[in-house]
Amino acid sequence: MKDLTSDTLTATVTDSFSACPDPRTKEIITALVRHLHDFAREVRLTHEEWRHGIEFLTATGRKCDGIRQEFILLSDTLGLSIVLDAINQRHEEASTESSLLGPFYRDGVREAEFGADIAQTEGEPALFHGRVVDANGTPVASALIEVWQTAANGMYEGQDPDQPEGNLRGRFRSNAAGEYAFRSLKPTSYPIPTDGPVGRMLIATGRHPMRPAHVHFKIEAHGYETLTTALFSSDDPYVDSDAVFGVKSSLVVDYVPKEGRERFFDVERDFVLIEKERT
Ligand code: BEZ
Ligand code: FE
Repeated sequence: MKDLTSDTLTATVTDSFSACPDPRTKEIITALVRHLHDFAREVRLTHEEWRHGIEFLTATGRKCDGIRQEFILLSDTLGLSIVLDAINQRHEEASTESSLLGPFYRDGVREAEFGADIAQTEGEPALFHGRVVDANGTPVASALIEVWQTAANGMYEGQDPDQPEGNLRGRFRSNAAGEYAFRSLKPTSYPIPTDGPVGRMLIATGRHPMRPAHVHFKIEAHGYETLTTALFSSDDPYVDSDAVFGVKSSLVVDYVPKEGRERFFDVERDFVLIEKERT
């Protein structure tokens, strides 16, 4: 029997997976082992520190339930979610960039008419409109456009029992010219949930928990890749320091003040979808 030395230890552990029947699982677990070992060596991790690490991960798991997913929040705040987004989005020059779905998406919202107002609470009125098109600029008709955002108090409808059911959530279809329009509110910046271990990690490391004001969009159309993205307000103080790293400059929009029957902000924005690869 050969003694394990610090030089042979990592290879011995990765070799222990050599009989793994699934090549992808084997690739992932052996790379994970190599990076974990390198990490521990690089920072010369102590037993005491790793015990704290395990306590933190345990608390993260305990905070999860059917609604709250603290591990996703951890992945978001460590920038891992947006790395995955970058690796996995097929991005073509002309197409709209993606951003994080976040934990507040809700399925099953009733479809509303072109131009409907999704705000049932007070705030600064805003009109969102534009077209859904393909990479050649051809309109995509009948695309399903789902939107959701926080109320003026920085809370999503599901987080706040004082908001009416379905407040600031909408589901629309683009018309034959690819156009969509809905009325809503100018969004406000808000903190990601801080009442758990991830919030404690942010405070302990001197980070703020704020996301710059944004409206989420999920756009689905037959024959196209689903686009999950968001539009961020250019005048938001946190636009350069999003707690979950989801802002891309192409997704930052101006809210243009306009006068109609009332004062409102106008946001005109097209979304460019990528055709699904034909196999
Ligand atoms: C959100 O934008 O809804 C969100 C994204 C990641 C973590 C928390 C919230
Ligand atoms: Fe959000």
